[in-house]
Amino acid sequence: MAEQSSLESILDDLAVPVLRVEAGSARVLFANAAVRALPFSLVPLDPTPVLDSEGVRLTPEQHPVARAARGESLEGVLFHWDTPEGRRAFLLHARMDHSRSPGVATVTLQDVSPWQRAEADLRRALGARDTFLSIAAHELKSPITVLQLVVERLIRGARRETTFSGAQLAERLEPALRHIRRLGMLVQNLLDVSRARNNRFELELETFELGSLVHEVREHFSAQAEQVGSRLEVRDCPPVEVHWDRMRMEQALGNLITNAIKYGAGGPISVQAERVDGVVCLRVEDRGIGVAEGDRERIFNPFERATSGHRVESLGLGLFIVREIARAHGGSVGLTGRDGGGSCFTLCLPVRATGEYE
Ligand SMILES: Nc1ncnc2c1ncn2[C@@H]1O[C@H](COP(=O)(O)OP(=O)(O)OP(=O)(O)O)[C@@H](O)[C@H]1O
Ligand SMILES: [Mg+2]
Repeated sequence: MAEQSSLESILDDLAVPVLRVEAGSARVLFANAAVRALPFSLVPLDPTPVLDSEGVRLTPEQHPVARAARGESLEGVLFHWDTPEGRRAFLLHARMDHSRSPGVATVTLQDVSPWQRAEADLRRALGARDTFLSIAAHELKSPITVLQLVVERLIRGARRETTFSGAQLAERLEPALRHIRRLGMLVQNLLDVSRARNNRFELELETFELGSLVHEVREHFSAQAEQVGSRLEVRDCPPVEVHWDRMRMEQALGNLITNAIKYGAGGPISVQAERVDGVVCLRVEDRGIGVAEGDRERIFNPFERATSGHRVESLGLGLFIVREIARAHGGSVGLTGRDGGGSCFTLCLPVRATGEYE
């Protein structure tokens, strides 16, 4: 008896739920502390439905504990339990001791929810990467096709000995230049992603006036914004000397503005800067489609997009690059929704970055 109680106290110390059930009557002979700590009762079976590995609801007779109590030996049966905190996954093992009469089933449970979640995340990340690869291939291909057409037309013209005026030549080459720029940007983004992933995002720090950068970026993107009917305005920008990588900051602010143009549904876009003590926050606001709360963190990961379906010029890299630029400056970037729809991205950086990667 003393031996049994010391065995039971050892079992009580285990983190793994262990249950001893009498075959036939399904009477619980012993349940360790881990069983009692579960968010549901095993015997009698909790009224919360139990689901099989495919998510199909099991009848009480199909419940793995009920099967074990009927004398079945079970080797890693996967099932799910819906708890108020979300779905949890368990592997159940049952061994039958036939040396007794009636027999006794020893049931152990293994909570595999963290592994299932990690697997689901991994699958999603792999899926996002596959989508990225096919979009990237498409994105790289289309400017190349246009370039090829432009060059072929010029060669045909030259063979026919057609002379082009300077203006005609410039007109014909203009689309090529646009596509070369797009190609350059794509390749730059791809390079930046691999640099950021290898922690080789080095900064070239210099001291400059913040307003000059903000207005320059606005100027650069205002025509693009106008094309989709958006007005791009700088609402507020205090005079402040910052010590940042100017080119990288242009890129980060440019990525946020490009998104506001792409997803801003033609509404007004505003850029605002604010200094609070040693930190400067840049805010880019639009009144477009916004981002659902559940997507607001993951869109900063590489290849992640909140919009479904194929969208040209959407690789899911822009925000990842913004986040890495912020990190390299010792700052951060975040997203909040706007009342009345739209997004507000806030990029906060110390006025003087040191360039020390965390
Ligand atoms: N201002 C915004 N409003 C609504 N959704 C946005 C906004 N900015 C980003 N998103 C969502 O976040 C996703 C990730 O943005 P990100 O800039 O990283 O990639 P992208 O714009 O899809 O492609 P690219 O690599 O060309 O920037 C977008 O696909 C979009 O779903
Ligand atoms: Mg983008």
